[in-house]
Amino acid sequence: MLDAYDLSGIGVVADVGGGNASNLVGILRRYPRMRGLRFDLPHVVERAEENLHAAELSDRCRLAGGDFFKSIQVEADAYLLRHIIHDWDDERAGLILRKLGRPMPEGAKLLVVEYILPPGDRPSFGKLLDLNMLLLPGGVARTEEEFRRLFEGAGFRLARIVPTQGDLSVVEGLRVTE
Ligand SMILES: C[S@@+](CC[C@H](N)C(=O)[O-])C[C@H]1O[C@@H](n2cnc3c(N)ncnc32)[C@H](O)[C@@H]1O
Repeated sequence: MLDAYDLSGIGVVADVGGGNASNLVGILRRYPRMRGLRFDLPHVVERAEENLHAAELSDRCRLAGGDFFKSIQVEADAYLLRHIIHDWDDERAGLILRKLGRPMPEGAKLLVVEYILPPGDRPSFGKLLDLNMLLLPGGVARTEEEFRRLFEGAGFRLARIVPTQGDLSVVEGLRVTE
């Protein structure tokens, strides 16, 4: 993802559902002037603290605890959600995006990093992933069109999709201002 998507110019990046902060360790190492903010459930702290400490990045990254279905009170220039949205059905995924849109400063970027399901009935790894998502967390893998609809329903415009060299793509969204 870091090779495919240029984060230059981003002052603060928030990783929503950022777990053990390993995404942020990679990002902050590549962009030495950037600051990070990892948002996850309140009890998900220990491994993130350890990883940041081991990478000597504790002073550049804040750990915030909360429930993304209730409120995401973090201010950043970019909001990363990697492997988050596909865990949830449209109603729950839309709720996360709406909660995110509320504190988002104008011009901030929403970056959903996920597998994009190809349309039609061609075989693809994503269809297996889709079944897994349905059976385990009750979620869904989405096509570009499904992402577009999900974003629009939550007050975002799908600006572009940036493929990476791997299976994942970066789906970039911008908040629609009234
Ligand atoms: C599939 S993991 C993805 C972790 C990380 N983003 C990555 O790329 O590996 C989902 C993350 O969402 C977090 N999460 C689940 N429910 C949450 C909630 N209601 N509020 C905040 N974070 C939540 C989990 O604790 C976990 O870290």
